[in-house]
Amino acid sequence: MRPSSLVVVANRLPLDDNIAPDGACEWRRSPGGLASALHAILQQTPATWVGWSGAIGPSPKLPSIGSLRLRPVTLTEQEQSGYYEGFANSTLWPLYHDAVQQPVFQREWWETYRAVNQRFAEAAAEVAGRHAAVWVQDYHLQLVPQMLRELRPDLLIGFFMHVPFPPPELFMQLPRRIELLVGMLGADLVGFQREQAGHNLAQLAQKLLGAEATDDAITVGERTVRTGAFPVSIDVAEMRALAARPDVVGQARQLRHDLGESKRILLSVDRLDYTKGIEHRLTAYRELLRDGHVKVRDTVLVQVAVPSRERVDSYRDLRDRIEGEVGRINGEYGRVGEPAIHYLNQRFDRSLLAALYQAADVMVVTPLRDGMNLVAKEFVAAREDETGALVLSEFAGAAAELSAAFLVNPHDLDDLKQTLLRAMEADPADLSARMRAMRAHLAEHDIMAWARAYLTALDHTGRLARRLPRT
Ligand code: F6P
Repeated sequence: MRPSSLVVVANRLPLDDNIAPDGACEWRRSPGGLASALHAILQQTPATWVGWSGAIGPSPKLPSIGSLRLRPVTLTEQEQSGYYEGFANSTLWPLYHDAVQQPVFQREWWETYRAVNQRFAEAAAEVAGRHAAVWVQDYHLQLVPQMLRELRPDLLIGFFMHVPFPPPELFMQLPRRIELLVGMLGADLVGFQREQAGHNLAQLAQKLLGAEATDDAITVGERTVRTGAFPVSIDVAEMRALAARPDVVGQARQLRHDLGESKRILLSVDRLDYTKGIEHRLTAYRELLRDGHVKVRDTVLVQVAVPSRERVDSYRDLRDRIEGEVGRINGEYGRVGEPAIHYLNQRFDRSLLAALYQAADVMVVTPLRDGMNLVAKEFVAAREDETGALVLSEFAGAAAELSAAFLVNPHDLDDLKQTLLRAMEADPADLSARMRAMRAHLAEHDIMAWARAYLTALDHTGRLARRLPRT
């Protein structure tokens, strides 16, 4: 492989597997997200993406994505379980999300996490050209920046944490806290979704490493690690184009018809994850039905819960609890041909999602804690007509930007119920003013602006920035 001047290292490759009509497995570029942001940049920069395909064992044959080269990292069954399902998603994930679910600490997972991080670092070191920029993504790969620095001191190393970075009270519980901290501080620039995370990191570096630290710079030995907030976004143009497609507009009309022309449609779209607040939302909805504030004859909730991390016990248990509760609510309040909740536990095509976003009256995004939440941004981007209400948790990173949403504390059931009612009954003029403000913000802050802001800050020499396309 020719050396690249930009290398992205992420747990997953920017590909989705898809089963073709003849049963064969096909790989396609994941829609939206980092891959499309980098696409524009990559047209002018030889770049490589290092990541896992999501399959076990030797890598399947993968297509390259335009000029973007892919460098697969393979995982064994035992590595998937110890690194991905274990340390990343049963230890770090719950701990970084306010421990809304008890984190599990199993000593044997650590060695696998460390070994897999080492393999990602080696793969990046192998494909990176001299003085290249390497951009490492997220909590799965928190040790990679320092490992890479040891292998290749010539590189410019960036690290971006997509999930929340917790306050010292929580981080201090981690058995391998010093290694994890030193790992991420191997980067030249550590980026977060929110400013608070930079403050948390500075406090931890002072406390655990005795480092000199401010909210935007930490001194580690001879080096200064810069930190900063770079809120991630979506490919706004892609979502707008999708939502405007005649077949999608037609599908939205059909959905409205099928759900009940005169009904108010509430919509939630989440990965089936305990951080998303689905159970709290269902409880609030049940109480609204019970108290008669919401009637099945004029309102319906559509809950899309996309299957996720299904081999992890806590996710399986959550699914059972949610399905039990949806069944109970439909059993008690539904009518023949008119369920209170349409529950869909399946992967959704993006065009159907865009149609659902347009069909909804109220989008309900109420995670208990979320790094950003891109669904909230997708909903706003899909509403060209400037109608519709967004109910958004204060605990989602998106709330810092979408302050014109109906902000809510999802832990407070009464607040959740009242905010849902306020959003359902809001004046159309108020709704369109809110939607206009949110859309204006998004137009300026799309995924390309995010990648550009981060890479420009990483590359203080200006070498990489000169290659970034102008917006
Ligand atoms: O939000 C963190 C994240 O890893 C995202 O990058 C990803 O889309 C989501 O969680 C689901 O991740 P996965 O299916 O890889 O566990």
